[in-house]
Amino acid sequence: MKGIILAGGNGSRLYPITKGISKQLLPIYDKPMVYYPLSVLMLSKIKEILIISNPEYIGFYESLLGDGSHLGMRIEYKIQEKPRGLADAFIVGEEFIGDDSVCLILGDNIFYGQGFVQKLTNASSIKEGAVIFGYYVPDPRELGVVEFDEKYNVLSIEEKPENPKSHYAVPGLYYYDNSVIERAKNLEPSSRGEIEITDLNRTYLNEGKLKVELLGRGFAWLDTGTYDGLANASNFVNTMQKRTGLYISCPEEIAYRNRWISKEELIALGKEYEKTEYGQYLLNIADEF
Ligand code: G1P
Repeated sequence: MKGIILAGGNGSRLYPITKGISKQLLPIYDKPMVYYPLSVLMLSKIKEILIISNPEYIGFYESLLGDGSHLGMRIEYKIQEKPRGLADAFIVGEEFIGDDSVCLILGDNIFYGQGFVQKLTNASSIKEGAVIFGYYVPDPRELGVVEFDEKYNVLSIEEKPENPKSHYAVPGLYYYDNSVIERAKNLEPSSRGEIEITDLNRTYLNEGKLKVELLGRGFAWLDTGTYDGLANASNFVNTMQKRTGLYISCPEEIAYRNRWISKEELIALGKEYEKTEYGQYLLNIADEF
């Protein structure tokens, strides 16, 4: 399975913060935002990743993550000329995906919680169809909304409905079989002029091939779309990390635990940031495990 991180858009809801920088490079406490979705793909054991961003920002991602070899991965980059919608990721990424299945994660979605790795492992093993997630929120009107029966069969999925049929929002993490490329190409743009991921998901639903996995109570799917959301996400990461002594979404640590890099390589990465707590954390991990 391949992975795509969509890090496009103009971040206008966060102006002036994002007037001169890509939203997904903003800090969430001690790391660039994109480390969080990158870590989710790595926890899904996905080693080949495509990062899609705007022409003006793609170079920043390349300087941050390079070719991925320091993490034992392969990272590629592709420009999305205009924000044509989330489903466009599969058209931009067609060549990269090749004959594989693919996981798409939005560059501004942050996930954290117990049991997540098992859910990711299940989702990434799909051979046919699609897997999406459902997360209870008080007001899902600005999100994709999924309605399902008691056996978690999806009944409907709607984008930003005025009258939501459930409280379950669809977070920006999706697993698809290879037919997603052709399905994306056949979508008609919505009223906001974009090809919608929700319309794409509906094509799977109509064929009985869409599964929803719930992210239950105690699980955190953090919002980074507002000033408060950003600040709260930083505070959340800070609090959890300080209390548990373990980092949330540290790609170097995950690469090491996945055995994609050696102890020596981890130590070398830690030494690069030796003066920071982050660097010290990497050195401690190498020391302990
Ligand atoms: C997009 C999707 C929506 C999903 C959300 C998750 O919304 O269209 O279905 O729930 O991401 O972050 P947008 O950010 O384009 O408003």
